[in-house]
Amino acid sequence: MCGIVAYNGTKNALPVIIKGLKRLEYRGYDSAGLVLQSGEDELKIYKKKGKVAELEKLIQEDSLVGSMGIGHTRWATHGKPNDVNAHPHISGNRRLSLVHNGIIENYASLKLALEKLGHQFESDTDTEVLIHLIEEIQGRDNLSLIEAVRIALAKVVGAYAIVVMDLEEPDVLVAARKSSPLVIGIGENEFIVASDSTPIIEYTKKVVYLKDDQLAVITKSNLQLISMENQKMPLSIQEIEMELDRIEKGGYDYFMMKEIHEQPVTVRDSMLGRVNAREGWARLGGLNDHINRLINANRITLVGCGTSWHSALIGEYLIEKLARIPVEVEYASEFRYRNPVINEGDIVMAISQSGETADTMAALKSAKDMGAFTYGIVNVVGSSIARLADAGSYIHAGPEIGVASTKAFTGQVSILTILALQLAHRKGTISESRFRELLLAFEQIPSKIQTVLDTVGEKIKYIAKELKDANNALYLGRGKSFPVALEGALKLKEISYIHAEGYPAAEMKHGPIALIDENMPIILIATNQDAYEKIVSNVQEVKARGGVVIAIVAEGEKTITEIADYAIHIPETESIFSPLLSVIPLQLLSYYIAVLRGCDVDQPRNLAKSVTVE
Ligand code: G6P
Repeated sequence: MCGIVAYNGTKNALPVIIKGLKRLEYRGYDSAGLVLQSGEDELKIYKKKGKVAELEKLIQEDSLVGSMGIGHTRWATHGKPNDVNAHPHISGNRRLSLVHNGIIENYASLKLALEKLGHQFESDTDTEVLIHLIEEIQGRDNLSLIEAVRIALAKVVGAYAIVVMDLEEPDVLVAARKSSPLVIGIGENEFIVASDSTPIIEYTKKVVYLKDDQLAVITKSNLQLISMENQKMPLSIQEIEMELDRIEKGGYDYFMMKEIHEQPVTVRDSMLGRVNAREGWARLGGLNDHINRLINANRITLVGCGTSWHSALIGEYLIEKLARIPVEVEYASEFRYRNPVINEGDIVMAISQSGETADTMAALKSAKDMGAFTYGIVNVVGSSIARLADAGSYIHAGPEIGVASTKAFTGQVSILTILALQLAHRKGTISESRFRELLLAFEQIPSKIQTVLDTVGEKIKYIAKELKDANNALYLGRGKSFPVALEGALKLKEISYIHAEGYPAAEMKHGPIALIDENMPIILIATNQDAYEKIVSNVQEVKARGGVVIAIVAEGEKTITEIADYAIHIPETESIFSPLLSVIPLQLLSYYIAVLRGCDVDQPRNLAKSVTVE
């Protein structure tokens, strides 16, 4: 992991690669590197622990020019983040160079075999083993680069997206993928290869998404795809819709803040053509041909990781409440390894912003193998999960660059809400008049998110100052506010490094209450109309033990507002839609705390946006 950019064309490759690596910074990384084919007879490799800016400084001392090159941002898996382990890696004969995302699972046995043949390794990485393997195979029969790569990859177990260069073939880039994304942008006499389309869109909108077990041979004037069996394959060229301003900060200090503020628009976009209160319908296009399957399902299983798992928990609440279909929510990583009982015709839905998360992908694959009908709720168009699932819905939130997910979360919840409404309507588990009432309320959510953004900022900034030195925080909520508590806690720990836990409010007395004193802030999501008195009791229990309470409540609420130290008021809505509003102050709170603590909000330490390894 984590980001690849390669260029073959008529421009100087260096600025294209550097800019591309910066575009990929959001994916999370700890070191960066690049090599250009500069016409000299030796490779000049630049690698540096830290940010791309550090790498840039290193290169500035040299004047590096070349019209082909490969670059990489690394998120350490095998071996510490340091200059040596950074990519590109080179062959022993210093002829080949390689960047790689993914994990070569059988690298240890390959390394042993190569060492017996005299290969020596400089780094601790699995990637270096792969380039030595390619070198070994190439050397034995004096093969072309593409042949050597193809034969080497057949010996590899694991996941990879790679780009390789050979000093002896100065116009050829070879790329290949298995379970790790790679996109090839097709410009005027130039090709840009990258882990996602963000480094590509300012040069071209025409792309080819490399498929698993495909290799690409890229010269300045031609792109050829071949299979692992050496068969030529047709190009399927697609047009990307993304505009450049979607991946720039647009006046905000951080992408996360921009994305928090985009939510009135992104949630509205997720509803476009899918909800119409006036005409009285809610429908996901991807579901049209499969609706009966879902209505008659014995159960629906939702899988995801991180924030996507939290939106799945809200989905469970919505689908069970409205459509009365049993739902199970599983961490994708647990689902895939615990031999789950999946029968022919079961429904398994994967929720993923990136559409590339390795665990979610593998969970979906195994569900499919067991005969389940699979559905993807995904943000990134054309991503692996989107392509693997039998059907699916995009959330249309646009690129999410901040590592901590915000607009993708509300987009996912919005899609799950439409799904629940559609199922309930078709199944008849809610009356026509109630259905229409809910649609009306749902359509107002984007403008209510805007109201939250317009009204709570100053108060939250103030509370952030009070909380910035806390070491711990407890988030409490009941029912559909419990996943919101989990999400609020995750946001805080991800970007401010404060330890935070989310708990169902009633569980507090079974353990967490022991932690409560004046140093433990409690963030309570109390917008629920149901179990209201019980929540009031929870607040009193906390106050009796000296805890500081920050409560998210509906406008007009009085009781908790009086007892709590701080109350944040959000607009009234139908109770089941409240997570879409109550999560917004929590996103802002974690943002302001992280800024006050001097944290790198968009690229928190150790985290990656797209976790393409297990
Ligand atoms: C990483 C990210 C999280 C994200 C999770 C799942 O851990 O840092 O923000 O929620 O992956 O990602 P996905 O793309 O599958 O939603």
